[in-house]
Amino acid sequence: MANSLQGRKVLVGVTGGIAAYKIHFLIRELVKNGAEVQVIMTEDAHQFVTPLSLSTLSRKPVYTDFYNTEGTWNNHVDLALWVDVMLIAPCTANTLAKMATGLCDNLLQATYLSAKCPVFVAPAMDLDMYAHPTTTENLKKIEGFGNRIIPAEEGELASGLMGLGRMAEPETIFRHLQQFFSTENSKSLLKGKKILITAGPTFEPIDPVRFIGNHSSGKMGFALAEAAADRGAEVILITGPSSLHTTHPNISLHAVISAKEMLEEVFKYYENVDVAIMSAAVADYTPKYYSDQKIKKKEQDFMIELVKNPDILKTMGEKKSHQLLVGFALETQNEVEYAKSKLVQKNLDLIILNSLQDSGAGFKRDTNKISIFTKEGESKVFDLKKKTEVAEDILNVVEEKLH
Ligand code: PMT
Repeated sequence: MANSLQGRKVLVGVTGGIAAYKIHFLIRELVKNGAEVQVIMTEDAHQFVTPLSLSTLSRKPVYTDFYNTEGTWNNHVDLALWVDVMLIAPCTANTLAKMATGLCDNLLQATYLSAKCPVFVAPAMDLDMYAHPTTTENLKKIEGFGNRIIPAEEGELASGLMGLGRMAEPETIFRHLQQFFSTENSKSLLKGKKILITAGPTFEPIDPVRFIGNHSSGKMGFALAEAAADRGAEVILITGPSSLHTTHPNISLHAVISAKEMLEEVFKYYENVDVAIMSAAVADYTPKYYSDQKIKKKEQDFMIELVKNPDILKTMGEKKSHQLLVGFALETQNEVEYAKSKLVQKNLDLIILNSLQDSGAGFKRDTNKISIFTKEGESKVFDLKKKTEVAEDILNVVEEKLH
């Protein structure tokens, strides 16, 4: 992602919670990436972190009071006009309640009320406070005002309890801000479009211990999802079992196990998406019977009867209305012929061919080598590249087709 933070003005409001100590890492990262950062602390935040450490990292004086030592005032209206994005992190239950009701008893609240820019809010509190109906209600309320919530995370809390309430990690908050600016700058045709992407393998269960699977890691599908989200698309990523994860704010991640589950999940969203890219390696067959108990080893050979799985992509092709439908073909021989026949049989707009004959292509690796065929008969052959770059090539062709 190009550096979308360069020259952007970020106002960070720090309130009085223990998570305030983490804000140093975020401010350092923002400044390192070229953002201009102005910190406002509430009175209570001083109990947890010092203005000196925050001003050292932000390279600007930190404000708390309406009035400063020179006898002039810290003008909240000027601050609100100056800023591109405001972030309140950590946001305590107290500040949240003030934001929900419009209470304006400190510089941060006055600046918040004057700001016309997008406001991100990263709540942090103990689990029972976070779960309290008032907190839920207030979060809903301020979200309704147009604020963007960076949800609290689960984990160990300052009280020693475990649960939901920890402030999102600085990297996650950084990602949200970075993403906001890159989407804002994006000229991509995918900006604002809904894209469904599948990734990873499917596991077809035999018994509670065993399954039939394949070598897909999910790397190709996740790279596509991240690249599309960076261009400003709203991505629904449906993945089979994979060790990969994403915190990209434009991606909603849905984990499934089997082909049947993937089919069900895909059809929850398919009707309302603009583009669907199916890079998952879906099992063509599944065991006819599932054993509730572990199958015991026997003296004789053991046979598993397999039945055909639904072909998700083919079903999508049959039900296609307005969507641009993109399939993958993983082949080991007669590659072009097989890929082109899948393009037709599954009623696709594009098919991406990768062959296990090409070294560096296919499963698990960080690289891939693809060719793209369109239903209009065009073809493009690409060099071996990183999967992140392959994803950009695929999306460029998708954009050409959307044009
Ligand atoms: O995950 P990685 O380790 O990064 O590896 C990436 C990849 C090699 C898995 C990926 O690049 C890829 O080629 N994915 C498609 C693999 C595959 O299943 O190809 P296929 O030729 O068997 O299937 C053709 C198309 O139909 C695919 O889009 C597939 O998602 C879809 N399909 C297949 C069978 C089925 N029952 N339902 C389907 O929807």
